[in-house]
Amino acid sequence: MSTLTSKAFGPNFHWGVSIAAAQNEGAYLEDGKSLSTWDAFARRKGKIKSGHTPHIATDFYHRYKDDLLLTKALGFTAFRFSISWARLLPDGTGRVNKQGVEFYHNLIDECLKLGLVPFVTIYHWDLPYVLEKQGGWTSTMMPKWFNRYVKACAENFGDKVKNWIIINEPLSFTALGYMLGKHAPGKKGLDNFLPAIHHAAMAQAEGGRIIRELVKGAYIGTSFSCSQIVPHSQKEEDMQAANRMDILMNRLFLEPTLGMGYPKEESFPFLRKLEIYNKAWRYTDALQFKFDFIGLQNYFPLTIKYNRLIPIINASEVKATTRQVPHTDLGWEMNAEAFYTIVKKIGLYGGIKDLIITENGACFKDKVENGMVHDERRIDYFQNHLKAMLKAKKEGINIKGYFAWTLTDNFEWNEGYNARFGLIHVDFKTQLRTIKNSGHWWREFLT
Ligand code: NOJ
Repeated sequence: MSTLTSKAFGPNFHWGVSIAAAQNEGAYLEDGKSLSTWDAFARRKGKIKSGHTPHIATDFYHRYKDDLLLTKALGFTAFRFSISWARLLPDGTGRVNKQGVEFYHNLIDECLKLGLVPFVTIYHWDLPYVLEKQGGWTSTMMPKWFNRYVKACAENFGDKVKNWIIINEPLSFTALGYMLGKHAPGKKGLDNFLPAIHHAAMAQAEGGRIIRELVKGAYIGTSFSCSQIVPHSQKEEDMQAANRMDILMNRLFLEPTLGMGYPKEESFPFLRKLEIYNKAWRYTDALQFKFDFIGLQNYFPLTIKYNRLIPIINASEVKATTRQVPHTDLGWEMNAEAFYTIVKKIGLYGGIKDLIITENGACFKDKVENGMVHDERRIDYFQNHLKAMLKAKKEGINIKGYFAWTLTDNFEWNEGYNARFGLIHVDFKTQLRTIKNSGHWWREFLT
């Protein structure tokens, strides 16, 4: 059997790793940065496993040069990171923090020096806490605050950075942070969720327009988490439940950007509430933006059954662990065929120019043994997913790049440091980095 090489994906394909400010930078109050919602959330008892905080994380703020050298050494040619809003604009709006600007310039310069094309995510979930105290994403002021922040990013870095991702996974931070209370800021209920969705969708489109106006030659995208949704049975109630989940996970934020407004489906009353709460019919144009690419992020498919006890969606997941199918140590199903299916589904939407896989990866309980990390299951995961991507690409889906999640083990939100996704192992006591076997595998694949 022929071995898979990166050449099969053609020239000019972006091969990168993705990281995020709150998960990697640390230095949480250094050089003028203010608290983010995640810094504040971590102080609340029981919110993050093992009482972990993002305060130090992987200390990327001080170690970025070494981490970029490692990225280069593994053969990658692109590097995706996010800007910390609280580092750039510590008051949320207004004053720009010179030391923050300097840090990101140094980081960008270092990328360019090493031949790593920077892809910058403007918002990866860490809102300045000062804005959260004024309502955060539920506030009608939010789109204006966001515009100011996007302008600051464009004005300060637009001369060097051409590839922009406006928002990372809007559904994740609005649902987990403003509906279920599991992520920062820990709010719950429809009164928070409905406005948060709308403000995020508005901010996303307007953010695209601002970058288009201020950054010459920009290549602009935004990233969605997408999953194949499989009904647990052919029973009508399970099929309907799966359809509701598909609307939430795969269509809610994508369709408005394509000019279709929010999805409409009589049998899903939540959508009507969203429409009425936000008078959404007035905003179809404002919600639209012709992105140059859509960032597709995928980890696993979901099997869904009807469950009348779950409010709003009346659906719940039948976990991979219960179904006894292969899964990662977070219990996420490993299924590359499902990745192929969702890439095709999203890629075939009219109106999407390019697709970039901006995240894909797997979490295992990795251990260093005699200086090595034997994460062969992660290698399998990547191999299978890359093959699935190649199949979709050969069938005509316009995929322009792939970013592995993630360079080093890092702060995995409410899982703290317990969930390891990196190609490089981090000992969080010493910050020692050890390249895992999957990292070595990537080097061979790419070079
Ligand atoms: C998606 C998020 O963008 C990222 O921050 C997170 O760590 C990964 N999924 C893994 O859960």
